Amino acid sequence: TSQKASARAHTNIALIKYWGKKDQQLILPMNGSLSLTLDHFYTDTTVEFNSAFTEDTFYLNQKKLDAIKVSPFLDLVRQLNPQAGYAHVISKNHVPNAAGLASSASAFAALALAASTAAGLKLSRRDLSRLARRGSGSATRSIYGGFVEWLPGTSDQDSYAVPIDEKVDWDIEMLAIIIDRKQKKVSSREGMQRVVATSPFYPAWVKSTNTDLIAAVKAVKQHNLKLLGQLAESNALRMHALNLSARPPFSYFEPQSLVAMNIIEKLRSQGVCCYYTLDAGPNVKVICSTAESRQIISALSAAFAPEQIIEAFPGPGAKLIEC
Ligand code: DP6
Repeated sequence: TSQKASARAHTNIALIKYWGKKDQQLILPMNGSLSLTLDHFYTDTTVEFNSAFTEDTFYLNQKKLDAIKVSPFLDLVRQLNPQAGYAHVISKNHVPNAAGLASSASAFAALALAASTAAGLKLSRRDLSRLARRGSGSATRSIYGGFVEWLPGTSDQDSYAVPIDEKVDWDIEMLAIIIDRKQKKVSSREGMQRVVATSPFYPAWVKSTNTDLIAAVKAVKQHNLKLLGQLAESNALRMHALNLSARPPFSYFEPQSLVAMNIIEKLRSQGVCCYYTLDAGPNVKVICSTAESRQIISALSAAFAPEQIIEAFPGPGAKLIEC
């Protein structure tokens, strides 16, 4: 017998970051985080479980990849339904000009929904979020749309995301400035582990991020772009300061990242409400209002080509699609 399902999940950008695990196996984070799911970047994944298959297979963007990238995750689904056999997984990343923003977040959120549905499970969104977490921490949040909080929890049971503002009806958007599409030098998995193990500032990060998170959730509820932006930018800079304080130290900043950050800071000194954040790579993401985005894009155009600047809006949670 064969059972097939397809799902779409969008990526998310953290405004208050997850950067460190207290359990590597279960992917339990040291602190809670807050993200915005984006409409522009998503992954479509089809999973077919078939008793006639003799192994798992995995295709990403029409290229056959080592199934080890998905098999441990599929095993979690097979634990929930031992009847499910081997699976064929076909994924496609939809990212404008392969921006290097395709993330494990949309990938594992789409895989969680497609695989659990194909295996005949009808998981709640909370359980889907818990399952996606086992693939990649940031995927926990991509089950939901809009603003999402990941409650860190203390066990597999209570570490999952909750929607804070799923249908965003206020004026906020994100500009992604694409600086480099290459693989990151230090993976997020490795980077966060090194920081937890070696940065003397790590306990202060956890403490201040917990405080930032409470304030940022309030800012979302009050639709306060300025406060949310200030908190997001400061939290991101503290995350990157941790990386510089690790042994051996590392940084994701490239010269062009600093150019973008300077442009945003200058616009701000001129009264424009815009703030930046960076993840485990050199690309800079700007949060701003649609009312002011033209002015910001025009200022960025002095240093970046039009195709390097991608405008994205709040996007939806993971959903089933036609195969
Ligand atoms: C900087 O979710 O990629 O984007 O759980 O090891 O797969 P793993 O890490 P991952 O880390 C994301 C780190 C971040 C911040 C964030 O998304 O919160």
